[in-house]
Amino acid sequence: MKNIMVTGGAGFIGSNFVRYMLGKYPDYRILVYDKMTYAGNPDNLLDVTAMYGADDPRFDFVKADICDANAVADAITRFSIDTIVNFAAETHVDRSIMDPDAFIQTDVYGTYVLLEAARRHGLERYHQISTDEVYGHIHGDHRSVETDAVAPRSPYAASKTSGDLMAVAYYVTYGLPVTISRGANNIGPYQYPEKVIPLFVTNAIDDIPLPVYGDGKQRRDYQYVLDHCEGIDVVLHRGQIGETYNIGTGGEMENLRMVEILLDELGKPPSLIRHVEDRPGHDRRYCLNVDKLKALGWEPRHSHEEAIRKTVRWYVDNEWWWRKIKSGEFKEYYKRLYGDRKVINPA
Ligand code: NAD
Ligand code: TYD
Repeated sequence: MKNIMVTGGAGFIGSNFVRYMLGKYPDYRILVYDKMTYAGNPDNLLDVTAMYGADDPRFDFVKADICDANAVADAITRFSIDTIVNFAAETHVDRSIMDPDAFIQTDVYGTYVLLEAARRHGLERYHQISTDEVYGHIHGDHRSVETDAVAPRSPYAASKTSGDLMAVAYYVTYGLPVTISRGANNIGPYQYPEKVIPLFVTNAIDDIPLPVYGDGKQRRDYQYVLDHCEGIDVVLHRGQIGETYNIGTGGEMENLRMVEILLDELGKPPSLIRHVEDRPGHDRRYCLNVDKLKALGWEPRHSHEEAIRKTVRWYVDNEWWWRKIKSGEFKEYYKRLYGDRKVINPA
């Protein structure tokens, strides 16, 4: 594994992963292959492109779609790719509820195109970045284990599940060296402010209300993005071919508790909280059992609270990054999703 094609490498987790891998493995070369949708942002890789100039063989960038089989084949040949790590996806549940089409294109068909290219070019490894949402919302005290049945409930989760199933099929049918990791909710630098934590931090900085869906008692495992990147690295180097690994803290936190920590770190009042009409089909709880990855020697480094506070401070210190986004296409999106949403009293 030396020449890695990181699809979706200009997005949130992908750009953190690229920075992490270039820093950790001086003999690896990284190709970012990204379509640059609204979520792909050259600013996410600004320091990387400044450090590895156009002549540096360690870093390259191709702007293209993973659904374009010719462009994928061309990139694999031109950059002698031996490994694909597929982050490229449509990723936001609320957008998948409004417009599922792009989710089916990229997360399902695009994954198939990459798997087929990996097979035809005889790549050493294909790694699929997946999500805890494939397990659906889970009940009681159960923590999802990798062998649990998948039960996705949103168009986003269903499209990611299809990608996982196709990856497994390529392993079983063609012997393609596939691994899959299923991450919990990531937070940290460069997350597009449609996702809850960057949305709430940036709203709160400007004293704009925080639209908490329903009663706010849904539970998520908010993990720091670099803990997730380290987990992916461990799966790539020590994981078993054909296997799936959960990556998260193994814990869970109520959304209202997350909001309390976020407001406390900013020194802003709870009066900013607005309970609004719930998301249709909102998953109440995700929680992962991460023992399988821990058995390979990995441990998360941040608690939920540390991850949330560190993330809040990054957005406070990096207004240059998010103000541009929030003044662009985002305004239309915000109006469409939240404009007519009823304020509710959850009690
Ligand atoms: P993101 O939305 O920030 O970035 C997605 C990236 O993929 C963007 O750079 C975008 O331009 C690119 N992309 C989209 N469609 C493409 C296409 N057709 N061809 C090429 N590039 C395309 O996403 P993220 O939050 O960084 O998530 C990355 C991966 O991790 C996704 O597969 C997602 O399902 C998974 N994941 C995310 C989380 C999370 O909390 N964000 C948790 C678990 C798993
Ligand atoms: P999100 O960041 O969209 O991730 P996911 O739905 O994939 O877990 O949302 C995280 C949690 O925050 C989820 O329970 C939905 C909730 N949420 C709100 O309460 N208000 C919001 O405006 C958003 C975007 C999310």
